[in-house]
Amino acid sequence: MTVYKLKNDLENTISRIKKNNQSIGLVPTMGALHNGHISIVKQALAQNDAVVVSIFVNPTQFDNLEDLNKYPRTLEADSELLKSASDKILIFAPTAKDIYDSNIKSTDFSFDGLEHEMEGKFRDGHFDGVGTIVMRLLEIVKPDRAYFGEKDFQQLQIIRKLVNSYNIPVNIMGCKIEREASGLAMSSRNTRLKPEYKKAAPFIFKTLKSAKVKFGTKSANEVVKWVRKQFDAHPLLKLEYCIIADINDLKPVKRKSNKKTYRAFIAVYADDIRLIDNIALN
Ligand code: PAJ
Repeated sequence: MTVYKLKNDLENTISRIKKNNQSIGLVPTMGALHNGHISIVKQALAQNDAVVVSIFVNPTQFDNLEDLNKYPRTLEADSELLKSASDKILIFAPTAKDIYDSNIKSTDFSFDGLEHEMEGKFRDGHFDGVGTIVMRLLEIVKPDRAYFGEKDFQQLQIIRKLVNSYNIPVNIMGCKIEREASGLAMSSRNTRLKPEYKKAAPFIFKTLKSAKVKFGTKSANEVVKWVRKQFDAHPLLKLEYCIIADINDLKPVKRKSNKKTYRAFIAVYADDIRLIDNIALN
């Protein structure tokens, strides 16, 4: 297991791997790894000769300095966890200065409006920051496949749009959401939940599953209203948004069509901790 801190060192290794005609998988992360990340890493290991896991808390995707500073940095524990998955993984843990060539700012992208929906409404400039760092990582690692979780479904679709617009030769692989036994989607934020909120949080996925059943017979509007009502009546969880959207444009659906594919997306506050989740509806 090698930890690369400098992009030049990693690039030398990548060149060697490419010369041997070996395939490369990239799993971008911000560290504080949990089993959601590890399930993606395992998928990448099964499909590629070499796997690079990047661990980098990307400053340009935070709109709030406090959040950036509070983000857990646990490189040692992360390395151990990755080592237990495979000792063949290459870890890329650069400094901001190195990966950004001292120019730590984001590019202005247009993702055909995907960036203005859902998370984009609540996190200013977030997807420009994500696009900038992912593009940088793709340039450095030149992977055959890059892996992203459906947990951040909007991010996954934006990355797909990015590689299409710039003709970047990589397969973007969407990975299913890994959940705790309670149904709660795994997230580094879950460890910060106070016990009563941790106990309450599985209500989010439970409600999404019921919404899916209701979507079989009811309109999107009726289902969203029903979801709102459930959270209004909940003593601890506060709904920020619930949207049923077409997976391609991420715009709230007005009238259902059986030619389209829909998902329900949700953001909920459990105390001061913001949790997101989503579910395929058809
Ligand atoms: P991070 O939040 O660390 O997530 C890294 C990857 O793990 C993302 O693709 C995310 O969707 C996936 N992931 C997180 N929880 C998951 C779960 N429960 N099940 C399946 N996949 C899960 O997302 C980022 O970092 C950053 O924005 C990044 C893409 C690395 C750019 O900085």
